[in-house]
Amino acid sequence: LDKLPLRNKKILITAGPTYEAIDPVRFIGNHSSGKMGFELAKEAAKLGAEVVLISGPTHLQLENSMVQLVRVTSAQQMYEAVHEVFEEVDVVIAAAAVSDYKPKTVASQKMKKKETSLTIELTPTPDILGSLGKIKKHQKLIGFALETNNELEHAKGKLERKNLDFIVLNSMNDKGAGFKKDTNKISIITKEDVMSYGLKPKSDVAVDILHEVINLLHE
Ligand code: C5P
Repeated sequence: LDKLPLRNKKILITAGPTYEAIDPVRFIGNHSSGKMGFELAKEAAKLGAEVVLISGPTHLQLENSMVQLVRVTSAQQMYEAVHEVFEEVDVVIAAAAVSDYKPKTVASQKMKKKETSLTIELTPTPDILGSLGKIKKHQKLIGFALETNNELEHAKGKLERKNLDFIVLNSMNDKGAGFKKDTNKISIITKEDVMSYGLKPKSDVAVDILHEVINLLHE
């Protein structure tokens, strides 16, 4: 049995939320902790891969110096950092919870409170993973999906639309799964199959995902 099945492979992983500035002190963000992406990076390095982890704002640290960590703040910065290394990588796992929208304009001074209601106009951020699906050559692309309804149908739609090799569906219906938790419950969806896994620590979930990546690379 090969102990380092990802040796000579370069894997790019995105993690965490993105922050979209409203003014110098405020932003639009989400509750992503970055844990799933960081666990994927650690386990991929243990399996022999060269890992680049591009992460939005998170309190997590990496002891493992085998992982190259690039910290970014906004979706646009994550987009640029990802495209800078994409050509050199064999696999991309997009675990980041990228903000779908950003304020259309960013105030240069802290916005003052007024007695009237406030409207902030939002504009879409770039779809990082979708943009990779359009230009991929040999690269394997893996995405995440978090759905609240018609989970399977929506996840399959994303798999097709973003030209992915497989998509990891996070269950929202399980107590121990999702944002900020140390455990997760997933299904892996390919064009042909749906594989469902039990609730387990995110480090074990990461290993399950990476074993599927290894299968893909051997096909
Ligand atoms: O379309 P949706 O955001 O649900 O798709 C989720 C997948 O796409 C995740 O893998 C996420 O990291 C990625 N994504 C991205 N850039 C965006 C939005 C989502 O890379 N702007």
